[in-house]
Amino acid sequence: MIPIKNSEGIRRMREACAVAATVLDQLKTQVSPGVTTYDLDQYARELIARHGATSACYGYQIGSRRYPGYSCISVNEEVVHGIGSMKRILTDGDVVSLDIVVAYNGYIGDNATTVPVGAISPKIEELLRISREALDIGIAQAKVGNRIGDISNAIQTHVEAHGFSVIRDMVGHGVGTSMHEEPQIPNYGRKGQGPKIKPGMTLAIEPMVNLGGYRTKTLSDGWTIVAADGLPSAHFEHTVLTTEQGPEVLTIPAPVSAT
Ligand code: MF3
Ligand code: CO
Repeated sequence: MIPIKNSEGIRRMREACAVAATVLDQLKTQVSPGVTTYDLDQYARELIARHGATSACYGYQIGSRRYPGYSCISVNEEVVHGIGSMKRILTDGDVVSLDIVVAYNGYIGDNATTVPVGAISPKIEELLRISREALDIGIAQAKVGNRIGDISNAIQTHVEAHGFSVIRDMVGHGVGTSMHEEPQIPNYGRKGQGPKIKPGMTLAIEPMVNLGGYRTKTLSDGWTIVAADGLPSAHFEHTVLTTEQGPEVLTIPAPVSAT
């Protein structure tokens, strides 16, 4: 069953998503050579608290393991779920994916972006551009009457047309009162397949794109997913509300009032 949010649920999703987007926006500004991924994670913790929210990542449980970070910070070949570390110092030419999931007033907002550290190679620049475009192209398919496979197929088609690959092991997802709700939203698949999109769904659409092959492995920390071939990876994500008027991106930073 795919949860359909009523107007109160949508109102709260808007707030949670605005917080998630504002935190991500502010965190991005701290990315520079010399900063450790631990510093970034601590800053994420602070920003989330400052907004009166909590991290949905911290303590997130899979089996008997609990995620130890407040955000996910994945460098270069790390695809997702990288854990902040004092030993990981960002260097000119790296790319870093920041994934922020917050709980606010009972609802969850989820978004991610990948940013360059200093100057990156043209090939990696293209990886980021195509992945970001794939997110927009996927979101455009989140129309009432379409099916989830229309989103999946649009993302895969765009990515593969440029010679990159989409991760198969991880998928986007519905999001609401819990981080992962139905439906699953793969970044690959066939048009016209999967559940039908109805108004009031809140969907985390999140292309994870590898410069090389799509295969991944999990590091010994039990969390960090890396590209098996060691080549760079990118991740862009928005939480989107489906409406009769079309998809609406909810993870937009809240306007900050001038004082
Ligand atoms: N955005 C990620 C997801 O949807 C967040 C994972 S939370 C963590 O899977 F606990 F794994 F960090
Ligand atoms: Co997500």
